[in-house]
Amino acid sequence: MHYAKILGSGSYLPAKRVSNDDLAQFVDTSDEWIQSRTGIQFRHFAAENELTSDLAVIAAQRALEAANLTGDDIDLIIVATATPDMQFPSTATIVQQKLGISGCAAFDVQAVCAGFMYALTTANAYIKSGMAKTVLVIGAETFSHILDWQDRTTCVLFGDGAGAVVLGASDEAGIIHSKLQADGSYLDLLKVPAHIAGGQICGNPYVEMDGPGVFKFAVKTLAKVAEDVLAEAGYEAKQVDWLVPHQANKRIIDSTVKHLGLSMDKVIVTVQDHGNTSAASIPLALDVGIRSGNIQRGQTLLLEGIGGGFAWGAVLVKY
Ligand code: UT7
Repeated sequence: MHYAKILGSGSYLPAKRVSNDDLAQFVDTSDEWIQSRTGIQFRHFAAENELTSDLAVIAAQRALEAANLTGDDIDLIIVATATPDMQFPSTATIVQQKLGISGCAAFDVQAVCAGFMYALTTANAYIKSGMAKTVLVIGAETFSHILDWQDRTTCVLFGDGAGAVVLGASDEAGIIHSKLQADGSYLDLLKVPAHIAGGQICGNPYVEMDGPGVFKFAVKTLAKVAEDVLAEAGYEAKQVDWLVPHQANKRIIDSTVKHLGLSMDKVIVTVQDHGNTSAASIPLALDVGIRSGNIQRGQTLLLEGIGGGFAWGAVLVKY
């Protein structure tokens, strides 16, 4: 068994769909500003009592169904999230319990918007080393719970959702190559600085972001990591059938596409419908691409994401 192959995918969006005009009812913003700066038209918001694990479980069930497997076939669950249900235990163990399974390993990965790249790469390493055979990899977020509605520079950008894949050991090509990187010296660009101590929330529990700073860093870094992962795998951009990028801003996606010399009809774009769903954005886009019939078996996919930390990564996959 030389590869970790995507056996099935699934996703879930909470029922409440919010347009830019809906937001403009209570935030000092406009549909024109949001669309022209980001490409976002809609995002979904979880209900107050709907937690990240609730979204993750539905995405996971759909991925298991697509893979023709059940929870009992899973020997590792990895959840990428920056909005866990609780301080502890991990959201992965809560998902495990809600799926009605027990015994397999389960843990969370925290790399914010790059979380799914980190989770997928970790799952790949488990499978390639023989430590796991079938891994449930989930990206799930409820960012609406950590948005400051008084801060129009952040609250219009994010949405909630979950995406999942089942990765299985296979002789057929699956994940070809991946590259993860981080640089903690950029931590002030994007953070939720709060922590809990002495029964109190200490520090701001809402998203703080230097938008233009993140934009500049993301454009430069995503182009480089995409180029690097292709070069290290001995691939050229023209061999990529689909780019499945992190969905934060259509202008960032356009810039990566231009840099790689790809055409837009080779790119899965969902930012208009989902907003930035952080760790959920790439698996959500992947599942939309697969279920719409655009992404076909045997095709080569380039996944890439960047987020707070800063942390970033890219994964080259034969689907
Ligand atoms: O997953 C990684 C996480 N985040 C990202 O990838 C986000 C990266 N950054 C971005 O996408 C962009 O920087 C933003 C979309 C956040 C902002 O776009 P921008 O073109 O960099 O705008 P800006 O921050 O330079 O703001 C331009 C103007 C400002 O007004 P003045 O100072 O020029 O009068 C802002 O006050 O737009 C104003 N503005 C808004 N106006 C209406 C900021 N937010 C809003 C808003 N509605 N929601």
